[in-house]
Amino acid sequence: MTSSSPGLPLLWTERRTPPRQQLLKWIGNKQRFAAGIVSVFPDDFGTYIEPFIGSGAVLATLAPQRAIAGDVLAPLVALWRTLQTEPAQLIAWYEAGWPRLQAGDKKAAYNEIRAQFNAAPNPGDLVVLARACYGGVIRFDQKGAMNTPCGAHKPISPASFAERVPEWRERVAGTRFVHADFETLLDGAQAGDLVYCDPPYTDCESTLYGAQGFSLARLMAAIARCKDRGVRVALSIDGSKQSGGRICDVAIPEDLFDTAASVDVGRSMLRRFQMQGRTLEDEVVTDRLLLTWRS
Ligand SMILES: C[S@@+](CC[C@H](N)C(=O)[O-])C[C@H]1O[C@@H](n2cnc3c(N)ncnc32)[C@H](O)[C@@H]1O
Repeated sequence: MTSSSPGLPLLWTERRTPPRQQLLKWIGNKQRFAAGIVSVFPDDFGTYIEPFIGSGAVLATLAPQRAIAGDVLAPLVALWRTLQTEPAQLIAWYEAGWPRLQAGDKKAAYNEIRAQFNAAPNPGDLVVLARACYGGVIRFDQKGAMNTPCGAHKPISPASFAERVPEWRERVAGTRFVHADFETLLDGAQAGDLVYCDPPYTDCESTLYGAQGFSLARLMAAIARCKDRGVRVALSIDGSKQSGGRICDVAIPEDLFDTAASVDVGRSMLRRFQMQGRTLEDEVVTDRLLLTWRS
């Protein structure tokens, strides 16, 4: 176990076109970086596999013909499936929740929707919460209850949400969404497939997204198995969380990655959240990608 990207050639990337606007607000989303990330992908892959789908920024930018996308958050997967099969229902859910946040006490209404979601997690409440919660932070307590406070912003109007739906639906038309731990998707990948991983990074962020069961060591091992089978894997790492050959406290196996790419710049919402609302306008982060192939 030794170094990762520091000794590797650095590949600069160019932009392609992501969807016009985000469907969901999602902490750690790759909307700003998606075009750059996609630009380093090979053209000749079998199935595209994204095991940490979140708000799907990279999937939607690539808009692959054949894909499998997964997430451990069941109501999120149900939300994606609803987009595909019943887009009018997805819009109706947002239309039903939004007025509750406009009239009277917004925070109280938000807390009611959150309590409803925690009593019975479901995609209809999740789409409203994701658009209205603080900074798109999808955070859970130890008991698995979502505990993010209401955001100060005005959630987008139902008309604006409805406008985004057709474009997103079209872009994910070739994707099968599955509720699964990442390892299931990685172990199911076959030679020639392309996997893109955007994990919750660290054990210190374990309450985010309900990622309590996530382990970087387990991810590294699954990526190594993919590489052995002839599956190409791209892994996003937040530059600020990488130090030497380690991501937080997990060593990156020697020879696992052959290329490091530096992708675009943007501001880190997560940091902003941790700084209790203090804006960090001067702080820019570069997203970095590690690739198991030479590019
Ligand atoms: C950094 S976010 C992905 C963001 C995504 N790239 C986007 O653009 O929105 C990580 C995602 O991994 C999911 N996740 C956490 N632990 C997981 C696990 N063990 N298996 C699969 N997904 C997991 C979380 O629910 C979250 O949606």
